Amino acid sequence: MEIIKIRDKAFEPYVTADELQEIAERLASEVRTDLDGRVPLFVVVLNGAFMFAADFIRHYNADCEISFVKMSSYQGMHSTGKVKQLIGLDVDVEGRDVVILEDIIDTGNTLEELYRIFEDKKVASLRIATLFFKPDAYKKTLKIDYVGKPIPNRFILGYGLDFDGLARNLPQVYQLNTSMTNIVLFGKPGAGKGTQAAFLKDKYNLVHISTGDLFRYNISNATKLGKLAQSYIDRGDLVPDEVTIQMLQEEVEKNPEAEGFLFDGFPRTIAQAEALDAFLEGKGMSIRATVALEADDEVLVKRIVERGKVSGRADDQDETKIRNRFVEYNEKTAPLMDYYKKQGKYHSVDGIGTIEEITKRLSDTIDTIKG
Ligand code: AP5
Ligand code: MG
Repeated sequence: MEIIKIRDKAFEPYVTADELQEIAERLASEVRTDLDGRVPLFVVVLNGAFMFAADFIRHYNADCEISFVKMSSYQGMHSTGKVKQLIGLDVDVEGRDVVILEDIIDTGNTLEELYRIFEDKKVASLRIATLFFKPDAYKKTLKIDYVGKPIPNRFILGYGLDFDGLARNLPQVYQLNTSMTNIVLFGKPGAGKGTQAAFLKDKYNLVHISTGDLFRYNISNATKLGKLAQSYIDRGDLVPDEVTIQMLQEEVEKNPEAEGFLFDGFPRTIAQAEALDAFLEGKGMSIRATVALEADDEVLVKRIVERGKVSGRADDQDETKIRNRFVEYNEKTAPLMDYYKKQGKYHSVDGIGTIEEITKRLSDTIDTIKG
């Protein structure tokens, strides 16, 4: 597979030039059938739609007129939410059958602005045709008449779509490299997940997400989430799944440009693991491997008691609470070993030794997995 690099990110082929042609041809023929002899005015939304529009119009074998508007809502890889009209409509559209040609509809902010532009223009009809549509990102209820290809909520580029101004010239569409290294760092309380994550995230350029750290951050900032989680955490109980799953998903969403995620302390129940698989699949992603740090309970309790002297963590302070975390682990988290073994993704690493030794063991395992 031909991986390309744009700026510092790796992208892999996603929609071939042939498929793009087929889509353009199909949409053109659908629109033509619906317009049934009337002469449409195609309004192309710049910049992204220029290639799609060129192919679409080439396949539109009937009379038509073409005009352009230019909108802007992206900066880098993020939709800014604010849509600016940079080049406005310069033709009289009254009584016309207008068909808007868009490259991609995600949140729907640009679409809303387009509807607003045509609201009082007395057009005979207004249709929207988009090459790509991201149903998971769409926040509006505005009608979209023609969709070329629905896609997961992932960043794509090429064939008119850019990343930071680049890649519009590519004849096919690429997506962020899905051979992403998404790793679950698994292990009992005190096994060294946080300690090792600090090294691994830099070594493999991963976004480290620790649900425990996120809860503690929310607790120290007295957020609603923090208040909700605190009582569970202080007792050494798990926080309810719904809360944890949602927080995790939001954290992943915040990093659309990630080359991979290092999940620490998540998933911790079968329900969380299933939710994670489903959520990642919706984004065209998956867990590459679960790497478990194995260590004996007694060693871990000692480590945690020791850390409790300086960590300030309420759940580190007394042995009853610490032991309750192991009970929770055995009951709810340990079954995940089988869950990942069945998927052939479970790798175990000896968690006893110096921190450097264990980093080396983990790196060797990850290198083998990455191939
Ligand atoms: P969380 O923060 O994830 O705690 P945990 O799983 O109990 O693990 P720790 O963070 O205590 O240990 P660690 O494996 O990161 O080890 P560390 O590197 O710090 O979760 C806390 C709570 O939040 C949960 O109990 C629950 O209530 C809630 N929660 C979190 N996620 C949840 C979820 N998904 N669902 C529901 N609830 C959730 O190392 C430990 C100590 O050992 C450190 O002092 C370290 O310096 C030392 N150490 C590390 N490696 C070595 C070594 N090789 N040799 C000697 N010492 C070492
Ligand atoms: Mg930790």
